[in-house]
Amino acid sequence: MTAAEPVQAERAPEGDALISIEGIQVHFPIKRGVFLDRTVGHVYAVDGVDLSIRKGETYGLVGESGCGKSTLGRAVLRLTEPTGGRVVFDGTDLSTLKGEALRTMRQRMQMVFQDPMSSLDPRQSVESILVEGLRAHGLDKGKEATGKRLRELLAAVGLPSTSLRKYPHEFSGGQRQRIGIARALAVEPDLIIADEPVSALDVSVQAQVVNLLEELQEKLGLTYLVIAHDLAVVRHIADRVGVMYLGGIVEEASSDGLYAEPLHPYTRALLSAIPVPDPVVEDRRERILLKGDLPSPANPPTGCRFHTRCPWRQATRCDTERPALREVLPGHRVACHWAEDIRSGAIKPHEVEAVLVEEDGISPDVPLVGPASVTEVLNP
Ligand SMILES: Nc1ncnc2c1ncn2[C@@H]1O[C@H](COP(=O)(O)OP(=O)(O)O)[C@@H](O)[C@H]1O
Ligand code: SF4
Ligand SMILES: [Mg+2]
Repeated sequence: MTAAEPVQAERAPEGDALISIEGIQVHFPIKRGVFLDRTVGHVYAVDGVDLSIRKGETYGLVGESGCGKSTLGRAVLRLTEPTGGRVVFDGTDLSTLKGEALRTMRQRMQMVFQDPMSSLDPRQSVESILVEGLRAHGLDKGKEATGKRLRELLAAVGLPSTSLRKYPHEFSGGQRQRIGIARALAVEPDLIIADEPVSALDVSVQAQVVNLLEELQEKLGLTYLVIAHDLAVVRHIADRVGVMYLGGIVEEASSDGLYAEPLHPYTRALLSAIPVPDPVVEDRRERILLKGDLPSPANPPTGCRFHTRCPWRQATRCDTERPALREVLPGHRVACHWAEDIRSGAIKPHEVEAVLVEEDGISPDVPLVGPASVTEVLNP
């Protein structure tokens, strides 16, 4: 089965990694039949991801919706049981833990979700939401100590202590996300997995929440895995960034390195879609338009998962051999057979002249001459 084909990635240096994710796979069975008793296939949501995060580091994970980011986050915490691979947290292989030991370890890893409204119980006051977390981990130390702890938590996320008696609907979206963060912090975690923490918020509020996360990291020495579909959010907050496509990481580098010189064709396409504030640069900017939607993770393309949309696709290897994530520049890993040749310019993208399509579907003979050079994917 091509989708499950193991790919040996070069591992990033472990160093003082707080968490190492090694070859993690999550394959969801697709069931059919009257009793849903037949497995007719799998959704290869996460298919062999290797990454490690150092203590105190922020790792940003980006990619289109449906590429497997949330599933990866859940698999790390074993909220979804991985099909393969392992997660080593602070030296312990999580798959070896059960019951109490797993619960204790989980306390050190907390999740912040995208939509605070759906992750906070509307019938519970803020006080009871926060106390619940403390209790679950045996940290409710009596009325006085707990009351003090709750006020500290609210102060840490910039909310007044009068918030304790209120209910989630009485807050704005940004304030609710602050409550979600306070709930995660209540059990004093080392790692926070924030899954699209600001995607549901207004742009002006997004910056405030991102700043709060950064402040808390500095104060409490937290390690973050921040998941986002928006490259701009991750650029601001992350030390290193991993770009995900159809269940795998296709590129990983320091945040500065990735944005300065994206090497994987997919990353190039993603970054080329972000407008540049300088109008002169913006006019000359190359836009890479990807044709077609993300293929289904139930039936991923053979070889390089990106070959059906890749403007640099070559006649050999691309559709037969899955490229491993390998170091192409120091600390900069890329899963592309042709990364060096693409970087040097020896391999050029396939250029297709964009043509105007009129409403009747017949293209006029005049090619579209625009200020930007438009590279389109030749769809096979
Ligand atoms: N419990 C599940 N059962 C079956 N398929 C799932 C399940 N959860 C997620 N998926 C599928 O796995 C793929 C990855 O989903 P997800 O991890 O939510 O992506 P992302 O967070 O990047 O948008 C999607 O195709 C999604 O439909
Ligand atoms: S391996 Fe081939 S198809 Fe995949 S990104 Fe590289 S050039 Fe494109
Ligand atoms: Mg998601």
